[in-house]
Amino acid sequence: MLEKIKALKGEIEAAAPETALQLEELRIRLISKKGVISQLFEEFREVDPLLKKEVGKALNELKNSAMEKINRLKELLDARQEEGSRADLTAPGDALTLGSRHPLAIVRNRITSIFGRLGFTVAEGPEIEDDWHVFSALNFPPEHPARDMQDTFFIEKNPDILLRTHTSSVQIRVMERSQPPIRAIFPGRVFRNEAISARSHCIFHQVEGLYVDQNVSFADLKQTLLYFARELFGEGTEIRLRPSYFPFTEPSAEMDVSCSICGGKGCNLCKYTGWLEILGCGMVDPNVLEACNIDSNKYTGYAFGMGIERITMLLYGVKDIRLYFENDVRFLRQFRSAL
Ligand code: PHE
Repeated sequence: MLEKIKALKGEIEAAAPETALQLEELRIRLISKKGVISQLFEEFREVDPLLKKEVGKALNELKNSAMEKINRLKELLDARQEEGSRADLTAPGDALTLGSRHPLAIVRNRITSIFGRLGFTVAEGPEIEDDWHVFSALNFPPEHPARDMQDTFFIEKNPDILLRTHTSSVQIRVMERSQPPIRAIFPGRVFRNEAISARSHCIFHQVEGLYVDQNVSFADLKQTLLYFARELFGEGTEIRLRPSYFPFTEPSAEMDVSCSICGGKGCNLCKYTGWLEILGCGMVDPNVLEACNIDSNKYTGYAFGMGIERITMLLYGVKDIRLYFENDVRFLRQFRSAL
């Protein structure tokens, strides 16, 4: 009997009901007419008369402490409830701060939607690539400097496994698995072993475009890029194509847009040339088509590739490429109103 009293005492001390309902359950279990303490009083009748004094005292103490505890808990819960109801229901709520898209995602989405309206679908490829898809199938000669350790992050040598240095690798993947007509763009992350500065980073993003069909011409390329430039930078935008070189296109060109700040008159942004370089492009080299089992006598194609960081810099006046990767909310919050 004394054991039972001791155990119950411990239980009462440890009890910590959180709600009025839990407290009521505790009260019923302990001190109601059919509760455990009343039961003990029943059992008390059978206790050896010699022990009655000691047991009776313990039992009375248990009953008192149970009642005391329950009263104290009731006061506590009542006080807590009162405090809750004293809250000022007319006070204005705390506004939820809205998140924002990352500026690179905003610009990538704009680019994919412009080309989407021209019938280009979107495809993606792996960031970890092999030499074939990043270089060999794209007509890079074996000794081309881009394959050098200085540009490329290699994961394994022989056979070469590497981080793609451009999204042109996705052209190859798409052409390998489908026959023309192919009209798609490939947004994605690329990696180059370059020193990090305000102008360059070892990780950046590109959007690649590819159109292969019968009778695709350089004029088609030019017209598509003009439409794109005007959709992105505004109606009055002009473009200019300068001859260039890429192993996988022939002829190749670099495209400039008229400076969005000075409109071509010359300013700090365009270094007083009136033009801003934004992408590389050209007609897909027949060797590339053949490497993907596409008949280069029947089909021609164009391709272009641009850096999203650079275009975002031009659109929003971002002066340091490192800002894109630091996730400083003071920078990111400024894009809250953009889509
Ligand atoms: N892949 C080239 C680069 O990273 C860009 C490019 C793509 C040029 C497609 C021509 C055609 O610089």
